[in-house]
Amino acid sequence: MTANPEASKRTGEGSQAVPNHVAIIMDGNGRWADARGVDVSEGHHAGFENLQRVVADFAKRGVRYLTMYAFSTENWDRPEPEVTGILELAIAVIAHEAEQLHENDVRIKHLGRVDRLSDELRDELAQAVDMTADNTGLTLGIAFDYGGRAEIVDAVKNVMADGVAAEDISEEKFSKYLYTSDMPEVDLMIRTGGDYRISNFLLWQTAYSEFYFPDVLWPDFYGKHIDDAFESFNERQRRFGKRI
Ligand code: IPE
Ligand code: IPE
Ligand code: MG
Repeated sequence: MTANPEASKRTGEGSQAVPNHVAIIMDGNGRWADARGVDVSEGHHAGFENLQRVVADFAKRGVRYLTMYAFSTENWDRPEPEVTGILELAIAVIAHEAEQLHENDVRIKHLGRVDRLSDELRDELAQAVDMTADNTGLTLGIAFDYGGRAEIVDAVKNVMADGVAAEDISEEKFSKYLYTSDMPEVDLMIRTGGDYRISNFLLWQTAYSEFYFPDVLWPDFYGKHIDDAFESFNERQRRFGKRI
């Protein structure tokens, strides 16, 4: 995992620094549903529809890696009908979208654990990942049953299973054991819904990310909101601890 120097600089007037890797905490589906007096499942449905809508928008703007937080290791503790509804939606969306994403040269990756997923979701995900493995366009990371702490614990287990000697462990080597092993660090982290927290997402990979917290709820985050996020990113001066 490497920092992207191109995305780290402010560019001159007229040119835009495009974040190479954008990660999104898609938050606010429940409040979106509440505001309309409808069931939370409709909020998640609208959220998944928006996910499908925005992927191409990010690719079009030159983003190479897009990682979407769809379901956390803690989200299992929600009411059972809500959890089941999200799992079913995820299956339907992957089944419906994988072919089109493949045609658009998108490479799909799953970030997270698989042991608690239903067989059907695990199979759909594996098929989509396999089918798109050699694509060279946008890499779309789907974080499902993802937890940043779980990811680090899983990495430690695999480091130990490989018998890596303590003196051989470096930041670079360790990052190869994360779910994001072949992805660069996150340049821009967006959390919709107006809360200012990371909720166990990409704890390692966001060490020097820029953060953007729009109030807008996830199902409504598209078009102009994406432009605003990019504009804000473009105004940042990233220093990575250095004197610049
Ligand atoms: C995010 O929306 C989707 C998931 C966590 C699966 P929420 O369902 O958390 O929406 P709010 O935060 O309750 O509005
Ligand atoms: C984070 O949102 C997880 C996803 C968007 C998938 P949550 O709604 O679960 O986070 P908290 O509970 O507000 O921290
Ligand atoms: Mg939430």
